[in-house]
Amino acid sequence: MKVVILKTEDEVAQYSADFISHSVTTNKNAVLGLATGSSPIACYQKLIQAHQRAQLSFKHCTTFNLDEYIGICPDNDQSYRQFMNEQLYKHIDIPLLNTHIPNGSSSDLEHEAKCYEDKIKAFGGIDLQLLGIGRNCHIGFNEPGSSLSSRTRVKSLSNDTILANSRFFKPEEFQPSSALTMGIGTILEAKKILLIATGEQKALAIKHCVEGPISAFFPASALQQHADSTIVIDEAAAQLLSSRDYYMLEEDRRKQAS
Ligand code: F6R
Repeated sequence: MKVVILKTEDEVAQYSADFISHSVTTNKNAVLGLATGSSPIACYQKLIQAHQRAQLSFKHCTTFNLDEYIGICPDNDQSYRQFMNEQLYKHIDIPLLNTHIPNGSSSDLEHEAKCYEDKIKAFGGIDLQLLGIGRNCHIGFNEPGSSLSSRTRVKSLSNDTILANSRFFKPEEFQPSSALTMGIGTILEAKKILLIATGEQKALAIKHCVEGPISAFFPASALQQHADSTIVIDEAAAQLLSSRDYYMLEEDRRKQAS
């Protein structure tokens, strides 16, 4: 697990955009696993700028999103399909047909989950999976207690997550309480993983993810078992890490060596 601690949110966004750009420029057919929520928005803006300024092309890429709410249609403004279209896809050259998001309004969610897994396999697996982290340490919508080898399936959202995400919904709007999400086992099969987190409200989750024991109660701690995962965070999110200085020393060494 590589831990990269940067001063500001903007540096975290630039680092993650450069990381994704590198993956796309070294493999124009890259299969990207993407996330929604507030954490990746600044990174997506930088990718859009790189597309506009430096002709970074996503034409031959394929994407698979982590999750989608159950109970709202893909054309609903609150769906993760619309989030991705607005925050990224409509500003870059990726054909929408290459972008995959679980269909949370399917009448057969179990079948939809299986097809999603099959589709990921048919594309040869995910090359780079981008993740945010919930304050309760969830990744995707794998809430505390999720099996560390779980696959794409329906999950009920915890009260913590419903409360945290209520900031995106108007009081009169329907807020979903379940989602179709890639499982932790699905996520761990990605060749590379990049998790981003900023702000002190994520500090405890990051502490469990990086330095806690591996436990289903802290789903992101499963990333400790992945051979190529990078955790990129700002100083506020890093404040509870015991080995903070060591991670910074390691990153300095990596920079000098490259
Ligand atoms: C989003 C997702 C979630 C979020 C997490 C953090 O697709 O799977 O795990 O990454 O809830 O959300 P933010 O970034 O809004 O704090």
